[in-house]
Amino acid sequence: MKKLLVIFSCFALVVGCGTGAGSDDSVNPGVTPGAGTKTETKTASGNPSYDPDRGQGKFNNDNVKVGETLDAAMASSGDKIYAVKCGSCHKLSDEKLVGPGWKDVTKRHTAAWIMNFITNTDEMLDKDPKAQAQLEICLVRMPNQNLSDQEARDLYEFMRKNDGVK
Ligand code: HEC
Repeated sequence: MKKLLVIFSCFALVVGCGTGAGSDDSVNPGVTPGAGTKTETKTASGNPSYDPDRGQGKFNNDNVKVGETLDAAMASSGDKIYAVKCGSCHKLSDEKLVGPGWKDVTKRHTAAWIMNFITNTDEMLDKDPKAQAQLEICLVRMPNQNLSDQEARDLYEFMRKNDGVK
């Protein structure tokens, strides 16, 4: 119970910092500014510059291009990858299997967040408040799926299709 309280207060801290700091996507190669000086803002991750909209990884709003309409070829490739690598844990409805159902997943997270999460799962589970909240519910750590950048993009397009993009 006490642990739960700590987790909640940490989450509040992270959210508070997120809104105050603004989400300027400047490059942050793991350097913590002012690490040597006195620190007052310590988040659950110990990384005050973490951007919860983008997550942690190689993808951001500049290098992920998402069209207005569906790219059917990418979505169909994503469908095939889903069947092999994801379907054992994720349903396409809102029902939880091992992991959360994928319905509306593209509305819960940005494209960059999803692509970072599925290519950099371990680090995101260590740092991201939303991913950690799911882990609390699912009690299973999603294993890294060793996806290429293109596979991650195809899967994102398939998720958009599942969420009704035409
Ligand atoms: C062994 C089961 C398992 C497999 C296989 C798996 N996942 Fe997951 N996934 C999870 C769990 C469990 C979570 C919730 C976070 C956690 O507990 O690690 C999750 C979370 C997610 C989320 C965030 C969902 C949300 O609503 O916040 C996405 C996106 C995701 N997985 C994508 C994928 C993709 C893409 C694949 C296939 C390449 C995949 N997963 C394969 C178990 C799995």
